[in-house]
Amino acid sequence: MMKRIPEPELMLDDEQARAYAEADFESAHSLYPVLFAKLFPHRPERALVLDLGCGPCDVTRRFATANPGYRFHAVDGSAAMLAHAPRHPRIKLIHGYLPAVRLSARTYDVILASSLLHHLPDPAVLWQTVHRYAAAGTLVFVVDLRRPATRSAAKILTRKYAAGEPAILQRDFDNSLLAAFTPVEVRRQLAAAGLQWLRVRTITDRHLVVAGECPQ
Ligand SMILES: C[S@@+](CC[C@H](N)C(=O)[O-])C[C@H]1O[C@@H](n2cnc3c(N)ncnc32)[C@H](O)[C@@H]1O
Repeated sequence: MMKRIPEPELMLDDEQARAYAEADFESAHSLYPVLFAKLFPHRPERALVLDLGCGPCDVTRRFATANPGYRFHAVDGSAAMLAHAPRHPRIKLIHGYLPAVRLSARTYDVILASSLLHHLPDPAVLWQTVHRYAAAGTLVFVVDLRRPATRSAAKILTRKYAAGEPAILQRDFDNSLLAAFTPVEVRRQLAAAGLQWLRVRTITDRHLVVAGECPQ
C-alpha cells in the first residue's frame, strides 16, 4: 500500500476555489443525504448541524434541502472557499480554523464533514472536534475519499471521475486520493480518539463513510 502524500490543508487559492465551486459533484454528493437518511432512519426532524470544512457548501445545501427542519453552522478556514457559498436562510457561514475556532453552540445534534479529513495534516483534529461538540444522541456523518493502493490506481480513478473537469481540478482530485486515508487507518484514528462508537464503511470505489450516534 502506497504511503499517504498530504496536500495543502486550506484551499486558499482563488482559482482553485472557483474550480472547486464550479465542479460537478452530483454523482458523489447526491448520495450523501440519501445515505444519511438510510443510516439514521430515526433522525430528528429538527436539528442544529455543524458542517466542518464546508467549502462552497454544495453538500450543506443538499442536506438542507433533504432536511427542511435543519439549521447549519458551516465552518471553513478558507475565505476564498466561503466566498463561493451562495446565501441560504438556514446556513450560517463561519470563517474559522479547526481546531482553534470557538463555536456559538456548546454541542450539536448532527456533525457533518465531507472531504475534510484528507486535507488535515493531523487527522486527530477532526476527531477531537467531534469529541468536543458531540453529546448523547449526536449523529455523526463523515465522508471522504479513501486512498487507492497505488499511484496508477489513483490515476485510473481520476480519469474515470474527473476527465471532463479543468486540469486544476483533475490535479486536485488526484492529489486528494493520494492524501486520503484507508479504512484501516481511520479505524486506528478512531480507537486512539476514544470514538469506537463510530463505524467505518466503504461506500464506493473511492469513498468511505464514518458514522454513528454518540452514546454519552
Ligand atoms: C475538499 S474541500 C470540501 C468542501 C465541502 N465539504 C465538500 O464536500 O464539497 C475541504 C475544505 O476543508 C477546509 N479545511 C481544511 N482544513 C481545515 C481546517 N483545519 N479548518 C477549517 N477548514 C479546513 C478547506 O479550506 C476546504 O474548503
